[in-house]
Amino acid sequence: MKILILGVNGFIGSHLVGRILRDTTWEVYGMDLGNHKVSEYLGNPRFHYREGDISISKEWIEYHVKNCDVVLPLVAIATPKVYVTDPLRVFELDFEENLRVVRQCVKYKKRVVFPSTSEVYGMCPDAEFDEETSALVTGPIPMQRWIYSTSKQLLDRVIWGYGFRDNLQFTLFRPFNWMGPKLDSLNTAKEGSSRLVTQFAWNLFNGEPLKLVDGGAQRRCFCDVEDAMDGLMSILRNEGGKADGRIFNIGNPANDHSVQDIAERMLEIWKDHPFRLERNIPLSQIVQETSGAFYGKGYQDVLVRTPSIRRMRETFGFDPKIGIKEALRKAIDFFVEEHKAMEKIVETEG
Ligand code: UGA
Repeated sequence: MKILILGVNGFIGSHLVGRILRDTTWEVYGMDLGNHKVSEYLGNPRFHYREGDISISKEWIEYHVKNCDVVLPLVAIATPKVYVTDPLRVFELDFEENLRVVRQCVKYKKRVVFPSTSEVYGMCPDAEFDEETSALVTGPIPMQRWIYSTSKQLLDRVIWGYGFRDNLQFTLFRPFNWMGPKLDSLNTAKEGSSRLVTQFAWNLFNGEPLKLVDGGAQRRCFCDVEDAMDGLMSILRNEGGKADGRIFNIGNPANDHSVQDIAERMLEIWKDHPFRLERNIPLSQIVQETSGAFYGKGYQDVLVRTPSIRRMRETFGFDPKIGIKEALRKAIDFFVEEHKAMEKIVETEG
């Protein structure tokens, strides 16, 4: 099987390539702006990497849509800070650029596996979000945060529509706070525009405060990326066509934690971490910050977000196992190595 992954150097794409090369005989054609997260696979004869930009390398993309069996359009901005500061860029990239790719899948009759998002459920009041029955609840237009959720939602609906009208073969999967190595880069955390775990890791490494936005009581269910990959790989294998025309939440409802709890747990791990002790890095404080100060106007939060994973369990036997303690420890250890590598670059440049 030939798989086309656009955005192959992202968090999901980079882990996925590793899994595909390790566990299958498939060929991967991947494009991204850079390759630092997939550099270890570049020598593999089944991995065909191309440096490129989804909005420029249009011919390359169309050619490979035509020649591959499955297409994963993973290119997207997925950090809430950018939804608020640059909503049109989110729309143009996450919606417009991917729509073009989806239409090519329709044209060449290719299977598309599209990353929807937990954000589409927004402020849904259900205790567990269900793919086919939960309402998708977003906020008013001045709350720019919702541009990501609604861009993804509209593309979900468009893909569904193509399935309905043109028999497009598709699956939508919805990641619920996947975390682990390679989640964002510490460079974005430096600017304060990273997702929670990377942001806190950066703050810890620099002895800076961990900021709880609007109190820190808001909750997320964190899913280790290795568990998430088990789920995504079963969707890609698609035995018996069981993933066709369906939507799947992929998350770990057992790892349901408040932001404050994550801050405390990360501090606990960091307190005795050899890297901190070696460098004598002062232990960060936990402080409060308003969302206005942290994100700017136009931010509205999701207070509770729990996936129903019944469909994944019943269809594929999905059973996420990695607990929060292990997931956080792995992520911190990875970011420590990235931090050291960044320091080396600065030294060399200096
Ligand atoms: C994420 C992103 O929108 C997407 O990556 C993704 O599609 C989806 O949700 C998902 O991964 O399921 P969110 O969970 O709000 O959204 O992203 P984070 O930036 O990780 O924030 C989590 C919570 O921590 C938010 O309530 C945020 O306000 C809070 N936070 C974040 C802090 O209190 N302090 C910080 O320094 C950073």
